[in-house]
Formats: sequence, structure tokens, C-alpha cells
Amino acid sequence: MKIAPSILAADFLKLGEEIKEVEAAGADYIHIDVMDGHFVPNITMGPGTVAAIKTVTDLPLDVHLMIENPHLYIEDFAKAGADYITIHVEADPHLHRTLQEIKKHGVKPGVVLNPATPAASIKHVIEDIDMVLLMTVNPGFGGQSFIESVLPKITEIKNMANQKGLDLEIEVDGGINSETARLCKEAGANVFVAGSFIFNQSDRKKAIEDLRRQIGI
Ligand code: DX5
Ligand code: ZN
Repeated sequence: MKIAPSILAADFLKLGEEIKEVEAAGADYIHIDVMDGHFVPNITMGPGTVAAIKTVTDLPLDVHLMIENPHLYIEDFAKAGADYITIHVEADPHLHRTLQEIKKHGVKPGVVLNPATPAASIKHVIEDIDMVLLMTVNPGFGGQSFIESVLPKITEIKNMANQKGLDLEIEVDGGINSETARLCKEAGANVFVAGSFIFNQSDRKKAIEDLRRQIGI
């Protein structure tokens, strides 16, 4: 079970301190939301920010690309220090090729599914990935409400991985708090992204501990 704070909800003026604080508070990954204003209606950060983050933390960087044409930017994010790069199946008609490109750069590849995208869309790449990220909100913004109808899809993905004997990380992202994290854990998730739940509380250690208590670790 891993906790991945999403820095989208952090104070960007104090990003280094914010990251050090969640690292000290027991975070496992740093989740970085990259948005291009095309695939999603919001613009956030790019490889320059990822490279800067790499200098302040030893935690793995989990880079969630919400961009069109992700294949054009894999090298940049790999060089910036990404440990995981996840790409949306909805954003790339050449998913298999882009996943190989991520691997070629020594980065762990993952795929992301929007709430309405079926589990079957990863069937033919499941052996090429280390992580599946299931969006539990429509991507683009922090602070939205958890979409409960995604829960059965978590179990479907877990079963697909088990049937093939794969040790796949199943990550959930969007509207995660101590209550929804528990539901996702019961459904089969093992990596929990949380933005506002962690950064909107002044005591980040307590927020992370609350999450851990609910998911039983
Ligand atoms: C949404 C992003 C999320 C977001 C989660 O498009 O992918 O990572 O930061 O924020 P919360 O936890 O506030 O829903
Ligand atoms: Zn995200």
C-alpha cells in the first residue's frame, strides 16, 4: 500500500518545502499532474518543474501525463527524472509504441483510464506496464468528488492482473480521502493519490496517517 501526494494541491510558491514535508510525513511517491490545456481544460507544469522537484526529494516521481501526443515528451520527462510515466489510453492511438518508448528510457510505464473508459482497453498492453492508474474523477482539476461507479473497474483490473500472475500496481486518483481510499482498497487498489485531502490540512503527517489507518497499514 502506497500513498502518493498530488502536488497539484500544494502551495507552488513553497513547492520544495511542501514536498520535503510530505516526504518526512511518510509519503511513498510524489504524484505530478502534467496538463496541457488540450487533453484536459487546465494547464499545470512541465519537465522543468519535474527536474526541479527531483533535486529536493529521493521519493520516486510518479508523472501523470494528461496531454495530447505524449510520445513527443517522453524523453524530456525521462531526462527530468521521472520514475513512472503514466499515459492516458484516450490520448494515444499508438499506446503500445509509446509504452515501449517509456521503457527504453529506463522509466516504469503505466496507463491511465478515465472514469468512462473500460478495463478491457488495457488487455493487450497489460504485460507491458508496471502500473494502471484509474481516474476516480474526470481529469483536469483537484478537489472534485469521487466517482463511485469506478469501483468495480478496480476489481476487474485486479482480476486481469491476477489471472496473468502480474504484480501490477493499481493506483487510484481523484477525490481520495480516508473513506474513499478504504473503498478503493477493498476493491483492489494499492496506490492512493491524494491532493486536497493531504495539502488542505495543515498537519500533513496526520492526513497521511489517517489514510494509512483506513487502508490498514
Ligand atoms: C486530477 C489529477 C489528480 C488531482 C487529485 O486530474 O490527476 O491527481 O490532483 O486531486 P484531489 O485529490 O484533490 O482530487
Ligand atoms: Zn493525477
